[in-house]
Amino acid sequence: MWKPPQRIRHSTRPGLWPTEAEAKQSTLLQPLAHQALRLASRTWVPAMVPWRATTDGFVTDANIDWYARFARGRPGAIVVEATGIRDVPSGPLLRIGHDRFIDGLAKLVDAVKTASGGQTRLFIQLIDFLAIRRRPAPQIYFDRFLPITPQHRAALGAEGWPEAAVRAHLAALPRAGLSEILTSSELDALDNGMRDRVTDTHLPHIADLPRVLPDLFATAADRAHRAGFDGVELHYAHAYTMASFLSATNTRADGYGGNRDGRLRLPLTVYHAVRARVGSAMAVGCRFLADEAIAGGSTPDDAAVYATAFAAAGMDFLSLSRGGKFDDAKQPSVGDAVYPYTGPSGYECMPGYISDTPGPFGRNLAATRTVRSAVRAAGHTTPIVAAGGIHGFGQAEAIVSDGTADIAGLARQALADPDWFEKVRRGRGAEVRLCEYTNYCEGLDQKHKQVTCQLWDRTGLDEPGVRRSSDGRRRLIAPDWPT
Ligand SMILES: Cc1cc2nc3c(=O)[nH]c(=O)nc-3n(C[C@H](O)[C@H](O)[C@H](O)COP(=O)(O)O)c2cc1C
Ligand code: SF4
Repeated sequence: MWKPPQRIRHSTRPGLWPTEAEAKQSTLLQPLAHQALRLASRTWVPAMVPWRATTDGFVTDANIDWYARFARGRPGAIVVEATGIRDVPSGPLLRIGHDRFIDGLAKLVDAVKTASGGQTRLFIQLIDFLAIRRRPAPQIYFDRFLPITPQHRAALGAEGWPEAAVRAHLAALPRAGLSEILTSSELDALDNGMRDRVTDTHLPHIADLPRVLPDLFATAADRAHRAGFDGVELHYAHAYTMASFLSATNTRADGYGGNRDGRLRLPLTVYHAVRARVGSAMAVGCRFLADEAIAGGSTPDDAAVYATAFAAAGMDFLSLSRGGKFDDAKQPSVGDAVYPYTGPSGYECMPGYISDTPGPFGRNLAATRTVRSAVRAAGHTTPIVAAGGIHGFGQAEAIVSDGTADIAGLARQALADPDWFEKVRRGRGAEVRLCEYTNYCEGLDQKHKQVTCQLWDRTGLDEPGVRRSSDGRRRLIAPDWPT
């Protein structure tokens, strides 16, 4: 993962922990109700993919253990990992693109309700993503993948040549020559692997996205409803399809790109389709970026406009993330796929302890505050979820009390210690196992390995009933807190 050049080592500083009585009085632990969103406290575990589904997308016992373990800490809400809305293979990621997935998801819902004593609301993050291929060896790219076009022939003066000769000629060109002949997306496919973009409207399946996605999302949300989830979070963040529609880099000329209204059109249409299908009793919100953190990307001012439009449309909550884009990701090795959390914007999404002067704790809060202020100024009371380096009680309490956000999201801190919420509630915050923001977990995610935390995954491996990773070396969920 990319790290800021300043390379200052920051350590987690949680500050003072509250007594049980102080915790009880805190804003953080007060209930929150807005439309269909009803939380017992203003705490939230944002989506984290643990790579535990079956290779065909079904819920496993290891998935159920993972979410039940978070639920034992009784956060206000847990968002189940990004779950694919299409019925297409996507490796060991959860899927919800067919009714056959509902039974497994319903078991997961039951496990969370039981483990939290009904105190934790469970949402599922619905995602669509576009095709992406591994980076090819250059020879293979020129031999097989690059479609030869009249533009290539014209640029080479190679009209009438056999295709094999055009390919061989291109393969032999130096980089400077190639840059003059290949388009920017052809060069990118050579350097990083081919991937579809929402702006590739010459491809029928990309041009068609505004027609197919609303129903795909609505049907997936309906399945979530039938599985018993309390709500859905539409994934409009990071490097995926819907985020790319919202992005300031979206130049589609078909009314679904260009200016802010155009970029908002599909995200709003998807929301309305989902709402029409599941009704107003189920919470429907979205996660999007307070700042894309890339050159030419959406800024907090853009995000404020998006948020106000989502709130006006009736969303029950808005969860804000940051960065995580393909645009500045590290070039993958030949044979690997580009990964959106490896560049500077990826760092903004999951900042680690080696950082710059602002450091990894609360990097997205200023942008979150900008977005929330705009939503409030427009007269909407939609709750806003903040995330990014939140680990201390005082920090979380300030965020929900000083106008920055309404709900504090703790992702890696909850992975390091799922009992954070319960420890705070009982006045035993000093027992919290503090996340060190090393991004060991994120490294596992990047390699598509079962995600665990280095602070506990080698502890008590021989205890009875401990479920281990496929290589047998790590436990899969945090040890129990001996209360
Ligand atoms: C292992 C891992 C998997 C993640 N998976 C998702 C995901 O599925 N969807 C999502 O929106 N964010 C995902 N994230 C980002 C987190 O939700 C969160 O925004 C980020 O880690 C910053 O918050 P934190 O500092 O509290 O960890 C993931 C993060 C990690 C560490
Ligand atoms: S591995 Fe554990 S300590 Fe390191 S960042 Fe992830 S959750 Fe935090």
